[in-house]
Amino acid sequence: MSETQHAPAQQVEAARKAFEQEFERFARFASDLDSSASLPLEEALAEQRALADLRNRHLGKKSALAAAKKLIGRVAADERAAFGQLVQSTEASIVQALEQAEQNLKQLIEQQRTARESIDVTLPGRRPPYGHRHPITIVRERIEDIFVSLGYVIEDGREIETDFYNFTALNIPENHPARGEADTFYTTEGLALRSQTSTVQIHAMQRRGVPIRMIAPGRVFRRDTPDPTHNPMFYQVEGLCVDRGITMAHLKGTVTEFLRRMFGADTVTRFRPSYFPFTEPSAEFDFSCFKCKGSGCRICKNSGWIELGGSGMVHPNVLRALGVDPEVYSGFAFGLGIDRMCALMYELDDIRLLFENDVRFLEQFE
Ligand code: FA5
Repeated sequence: MSETQHAPAQQVEAARKAFEQEFERFARFASDLDSSASLPLEEALAEQRALADLRNRHLGKKSALAAAKKLIGRVAADERAAFGQLVQSTEASIVQALEQAEQNLKQLIEQQRTARESIDVTLPGRRPPYGHRHPITIVRERIEDIFVSLGYVIEDGREIETDFYNFTALNIPENHPARGEADTFYTTEGLALRSQTSTVQIHAMQRRGVPIRMIAPGRVFRRDTPDPTHNPMFYQVEGLCVDRGITMAHLKGTVTEFLRRMFGADTVTRFRPSYFPFTEPSAEFDFSCFKCKGSGCRICKNSGWIELGGSGMVHPNVLRALGVDPEVYSGFAFGLGIDRMCALMYELDDIRLLFENDVRFLEQFE
């Protein structure tokens, strides 16, 4: 055999050897699947990729074997058949080894995937943890339940208001300090973040007309510096009742009944003269301390009374602004702060706790 005829066969032999050397680490997949069955899925997938690279290197277009194939036509005619066969059988043995390893590895990966995805139906189920209602929500819902049972509807209001709803319709004059930026938050467009739920009186009467009995719980905003009894955002609930012949006696009776249901049948209320632009006459109302029953304690600051909110008879100007004749209709309104009521009920020293969202604190309320 001449040098030129010998070299191609050697080339094929070298290609076979190179393959066998590299394939050695995959041989375990080609023969005994069980011994490697414990291979973790990620590793098996990496081996699969390495095997694909190996196939490419030894059978791909740029492989030594591919180069040898191109020589078949160039070897001497009497050597061609033998050389052709050598190339073919080498290729066939490489293909067979690769295919077996690939197939076993694929099977192994499938087994691992199935094992990972399988569900152990004998394991006890995992319950999603239940959340808790926020204490303000708990108090708000109690207030709502009481007023719904007294025949009141619940109104939802807007948190961003025009000047008309926040001030003008509530009989708050042009130069009133409440309109100033020191008291009220304004958007860049000049709209006000409502500073009290009394705004809903106007929306509700416009929408429903009179007679009306409604409460409106919701968030309000004031430029108050946070301290144990103040937050710049807090909750109020507004009450409104307008009908023929409504008097201050109805206001006192309704607020007293509400507080008795809230804090106990022996609760006593008192009304003190006050001033609000949208009610005339106006009164602030207090109730006897639910803890000490009036004898004086930490909660009522030893006064025996707890201050709760403002109230009064709806000002005739408010009714007129809504096209309601104050000679025919009269009504009362009241408003109180839910956060402070909540702090009282749960004996919290600081209403800021209600907005800190510390789960350890919030989890205590059921
Ligand atoms: C009013 O807001 C009137 N709209 C109430 C009213 C309604 C009067 C209808 C007449 C007729 P006042 O500004 O007092 O009133 O606020 C009512 C309650 O909100 C207070 O009693 C207090 O409980 C609560 N409150 C006021 N400011 C804050 C604050 N910064 N943080 C938490 N609660 C507050």
